[in-house]
This record gives sequence, structure tokens and C-alpha cells, in this order.
Amino acid sequence: MAILGHLLEKRGFNFSGYRLSMLERRIGKRLTATHSKDQQSYLLHLQNNPEELDMLLDAITINVSNFFRDPLTFELLADRILPAIVENKVRLNDNTIRVWSAGCAMGEEPYSVAIIIHELLQKERIRISPQIFATDIDGKALKEAEKAAYKASSLENVKHRHLTRYFSQSGKAFQLLPEITGMVTFEQYDMLATRHRVPPVSIFGNFDLILCRNLLIYLNTDCQKTVFTKLHHALARNGILILGQAEAPGLNHQQCFSRIVDFSPIYRKCQEKTANEA
Ligand SMILES: C[S@@+](CC[C@H](N)C(=O)[O-])C[C@H]1O[C@@H](n2cnc3c(N)ncnc32)[C@H](O)[C@@H]1O
Repeated sequence: MAILGHLLEKRGFNFSGYRLSMLERRIGKRLTATHSKDQQSYLLHLQNNPEELDMLLDAITINVSNFFRDPLTFELLADRILPAIVENKVRLNDNTIRVWSAGCAMGEEPYSVAIIIHELLQKERIRISPQIFATDIDGKALKEAEKAAYKASSLENVKHRHLTRYFSQSGKAFQLLPEITGMVTFEQYDMLATRHRVPPVSIFGNFDLILCRNLLIYLNTDCQKTVFTKLHHALARNGILILGQAEAPGLNHQQCFSRIVDFSPIYRKCQEKTANEA
């Protein structure tokens, strides 16, 4: 698709591995919005109006998210997964927890994890420094994430005690407190990029926990493979991977991750090498 070629040339993002039906639907919205009669005339519009590139990127990268999206998964994270990780850290005398939110949209997901970790460490009076890295391909979404001001609609799953403890309200916006925003480091990073296997800002992977939710659904099978290989490499030994409800490792990676909860897409890294690493 020539439109994707233009996006690659101008912005360096390669969307050719995204599901065609999704691309056609999303690009179709831009055709309608710009009154272009077909893809060729939209391409012309794109070439003559550089600002349309941002609109197109926005349409393709779907940033829909909210705090504690999929509440059951977050409850499991708070009650079982993170306490077990912390207990293990204490036992090993290791004072860091490394988390990666891959495809973090406007920060709702990494900040939800930060709130849980903050609360857990305070409650247990444990001195561990969490290192939470959050990445997305969409620079505009990351700028919003850094502002950390949200509408009420993003906060529907937030518990009342978290709302009063970690947010301040000004008008219609809910501002997350620096105690939480300071725990998360954002970086623009393409999950399909081959240059860096982990986000450069994290220096090395070795993540105890990775959330990669509702991103893989947009990719074709080959690109999903690339991402699962990356996630496997980036996880620490026995690290935990959380996917979206409609996502699961493909055939090539079923030996690499074992599902540890029946009713939530939570996986533990197995030590088998991935097809690409073998
Ligand atoms: C639907 S949102 C999911 C947000 C959050 N993880 C959740 O589940 O609520 C998908 C995010 O993935 C990002 N994304 C899409 N392709 C990506 C890629 N190749 N590398 C990094 N992020 C990508 C989009 O920009 C978008 O913010």
C-alpha cells in the first residue's frame, strides 16, 4: 500500500505487518475525513498536507485504554503476582523490580501498575525501588502520558481509595500525583524495531513483569512472532507476561510461556528457547 510506504519514508514506522482489515478500516476513516475519493487521492492529500501524517498515525495507532483495564487481571496482579515477585526479591536480597508496559498508550496501564506497587510496598514497609518503563510507537500519546491528567471516563475502574490517595481533581481533569508519575519512565519505542531488543532507556531487559496488552491483536502472524521473541528475550528468568484478553502466544511460542491463571491471560516465561533463538 503506497500510503504505508509514505508513512515509512516520512516517519520511519513500518505498518506493513498490521492486519490488512484493520488498516483498511482505519485508513478509510481518514479518506472520509479528508473527502478523498480513493486511496490514490488520499495519498496526494497526504503528500500535500504534512500535518495529515499525524492524523493518519493517530488513526492507525489506536490509543484506547483506561486505568485498571480488565479489572480481574489487575486484582490478580495486586493480590497474587506482585506480592509473589516482591517476596522473591526480599528472599534474594534484590532491591529492584523491573516492569515494562509495552504499548502503553497514554500511560493508563503503567500508572495503574505503579499505583499497585506503591500501595504494596507501603503496606508491607518494603524498601524496593521499582523501575517501570513504558513505551509506545506513538509520540503524541507519550506526551499525554507525561502530563498524567485524565478525564473521569478513563478512571471508571479506579477504586475510591486510589482516587482520593493518588489523584487531585482540578475542574474536569484528574491529575495523578508526582509520587506515582515519578515512578514511570516513558520512551518512544517500536515493538517491531530490530535495532534494539529492549527499550534503550531500560539499558538491559531482565524484566520481572511485562504487560503487552491489546497491541498484538493488530499485527499479522509474522509480526506477532517477532514481538513474542522480543518479549521472551526481555523477560527475566520466570518473569511474568500479561497479554490482552484476546491475545495468546502463537504456535511457535507455546513452549516459551506457560499460562498460570485459567481465567486471565497471565503467563510465566519458560526457559525453552524461541524458534529464532534456537
Ligand atoms: C489499544 S492500545 C493498548 C493500550 C494498553 N496496553 C491497554 O491494553 O489498555 C495499543 C497501543 O499500542 C501502540 N502500538 C501499536 N503498534 C505499536 C508498535 N509497533 N510498537 C509500540 N507500540 C505500538 C499504539 O500506539 C497504542 O497506544
